[in-house]
Amino acid sequence: MAVLGICSLKGGVGKTSVTLGLASAAIFSHLRTLVVDLDPQGDTTLSLGVMGGAANSVAQVLDNPSQFVLRSAIAQSPWNPQLLHVLVGSQESARHDGPSYTHRLSRLATALAHVKDDYDLILIDCPPSLGGLTRQGLTACDSALVVTELGLFSVSAAARAFQAIDDIRTTSAPQLSPMGVLVNRVRARSSEQAFRHEELLSMFGPLILTTFIPERSALQQAQGAGSPVHAWPSRAARDLANRFDRVLYRALRSMKAPIPPSLQESAGGSDDSSQESLAEAFTTALTVDPQAVAQTEVPEHQETV
Ligand SMILES: Nc1ncnc2c1ncn2[C@@H]1O[C@H](COP(=O)(O)OP(=O)(O)O)[C@@H](O)[C@H]1O
Ligand SMILES: [Mg+2]
Repeated sequence: MAVLGICSLKGGVGKTSVTLGLASAAIFSHLRTLVVDLDPQGDTTLSLGVMGGAANSVAQVLDNPSQFVLRSAIAQSPWNPQLLHVLVGSQESARHDGPSYTHRLSRLATALAHVKDDYDLILIDCPPSLGGLTRQGLTACDSALVVTELGLFSVSAAARAFQAIDDIRTTSAPQLSPMGVLVNRVRARSSEQAFRHEELLSMFGPLILTTFIPERSALQQAQGAGSPVHAWPSRAARDLANRFDRVLYRALRSMKAPIPPSLQESAGGSDDSSQESLAEAFTTALTVDPQAVAQTEVPEHQETV
């Protein structure tokens, strides 16, 4: 069982979207997958179609991490009831977010150990802060993926996330390692984003995943329809699905987990360096006059791959 945390200390950057994309990649690779919705907002639970689908939620699991309570808080997702289960989120989990709970940091890890033979992969969608919930989540993880957008504060937010991962590794989770930074909502023709990308790259170098997630309305359409992106019928969705395959491939490899042959095939069977890199995507933006770029900016939701 490999446990991957999806985190950032900022809201709205795409943690839930990335969690859903990776869950989609996982079930299309036939991996038995559990998604843990640690965010009290419950977006992941809603998106995976399991709102109200279990007697308990992650809040009760953090009160009492017994096998019985854990199993009563897990629901089957209609995306694939056999392969995809959800440890459902709820607003109640917010009471576990305070700093006073830091002495109970390993409760989620304790609970998840009860089902370690039931799943190949566990994805933990963390809340956008460094409170008790994110600490609980990261303590249970083998690896943590930091999600960011290319904005004004992305470097400082990513730096804080890495610092947090390092703190948690030294205090409560020696197995935890940072997987890297996944850049989301990329608009390759934005000169502002190109500049922010340079900044991020100079700070984090190889920790920035080569595979990035572009801004695509297909992602929102699939989410709105309650569909895995791998089942959404459009060219943009196929491109997104392939990108999530690559990120999942790299995640499994970084956790030394078995990689299903179908994923090896769809992810290119190598590391993600074979795909167009972020730097390449931005080359044009960096070499032309920013004002000219501003005028030719692609409308936000135009489907270009
Ligand atoms: N790559 C993307 N392309 C288009 N829309 C996106 C993309 N990533 C995220 N979004 C949208 O942005 C909003 C916030 O994303 P979400 O995944 O909920 O962020 P978080 O979980 O970090 O708060 C959602 O409406 C989501 O559909
Ligand atoms: Mg979210």
